Amino acid sequence: MPLPDLPAVPLPDAPPAGVPELLTLFRPLARTGFLPPTAPLLSLPGPFQALLDAVPALAPAYQGGGVRADLLDLDAALGDRRDDARQLDTAQQEALLSVTAILMHLYRWNAVPVTPARFQERPTFPPHLHALFRDLSAAHDLPACGTMHTLKYLNWRSDALPPGQPYHAAQVQAGQVRIAHNWHATPAGDDRDLAGQLDLWIQTFVLTEARGQAVLTAAAQALAAAHHHDRPALETALEALHAAVQAMTRQINTLMRFRVVRSDLWRVYIQPTFGWGLPAPDAPDGPPLEGASGLQLGGTQVADLALGVPFDSNLGRALRHSRTSMTPPQRALLNAWEPHRNVIRAAVLDWGGSRARGAFDAALDDLNRWRVSHRERGAVYLRGDGREHVMASTGTQLDAGTPHEQAFRDLMNERIEETGARTVGPAADPD
Ligand code: HEM
Repeated sequence: MPLPDLPAVPLPDAPPAGVPELLTLFRPLARTGFLPPTAPLLSLPGPFQALLDAVPALAPAYQGGGVRADLLDLDAALGDRRDDARQLDTAQQEALLSVTAILMHLYRWNAVPVTPARFQERPTFPPHLHALFRDLSAAHDLPACGTMHTLKYLNWRSDALPPGQPYHAAQVQAGQVRIAHNWHATPAGDDRDLAGQLDLWIQTFVLTEARGQAVLTAAAQALAAAHHHDRPALETALEALHAAVQAMTRQINTLMRFRVVRSDLWRVYIQPTFGWGLPAPDAPDGPPLEGASGLQLGGTQVADLALGVPFDSNLGRALRHSRTSMTPPQRALLNAWEPHRNVIRAAVLDWGGSRARGAFDAALDDLNRWRVSHRERGAVYLRGDGREHVMASTGTQLDAGTPHEQAFRDLMNERIEETGARTVGPAADPD
């Protein structure tokens, strides 16, 4: 399905004057990339703990008759807590934003498998929870729906990291990361293990974004080297960028395997919860909000910008639009970078030499190889068990029915072409 007309996302009024100003925007993200700067909290004070406790408690209803009645009871017991929420510290507010986002998504879809009627309705959400959620979303300058940040990046724990404490993305490692608040359960004897499947799905994105931090660091180094006309530094940074892109895409492919995240279960039980598809409450005739989408993965957008890939195709425009679902410092960096996205490529072409050219193209090739593999694997997941089920995807299609495989392929192919066109090739006069 073609992408609907999306409102243009304005680039900053005045793009940063130059690379030095742009480099300052990397600083807030330097340690953890697009993951939150402190490990997510696992508990909340006073009445808010009940919301965290509700997530696993709702699992049987989410896999059965629906969660709405239980959520209305929870809402009545909670009451209006917006003033209490404003007293919480930043990490507590983020944890509360995350759990209210989860509860809104559970209410919105009510149960999995999702019934087609959910696509037509505009549900009346539990009033106190909804007000709290909208208040927190506005305070964090995020849309009033769940996002990659709230549903995934604030919803994990690691054996190695104390909740609420600063960490480095390199410490976020497979085998230690788990979902924190799971809305699926696995009753004894249920070999679908939906709780385990949701856990793996969250892990995929958290671990990928953790590897994305190295992409960000190498990109900043390459930008600085290009700005200073420093050839050895450019070569080193581009080789680091290549290694980082390779590690990030390998991380995705490790978990996106049909027997790990099961392709027969994903579209029916795991994916639907993440979409939203309702307009913003203050713009009821506006475009539907996407929910948590792969489009909001920071690491791949950073790789695109470092390698000078434009955002003109349908998917490119959707990627740019998805930044409205990222946190303000993330959005500020990506938008401010756009006018400067050819800086590294121009340096490689002008004076980078053959080693820089080789590393640049190797990074681009790996990014594009991942795009091809995402297209092929994605098509299998979209087909799922081959039967009619609702829900295609989050950012570019949101539909009741069987997903449009060809539309998905067309969208991806356009982006693959757009990426491949940035190859610099070997120097005419190799040094
Ligand atoms: C499980 C099967 C998957 C399917 C069916 C799928 C499907 C899609 C679709 C339809 C889009 C277009 C945007 C939208 O409408 O939401 C998209 C974009 C994207 N997805 Fe996935 N996706 C899958 C897994 C993943 C995984 C595991 C990752 C990374 C951890 C990922 C990362 C991305 C990225 C970065 C984009 C933006 C396009 C790009 O940069 O090439 N996806 N995906």
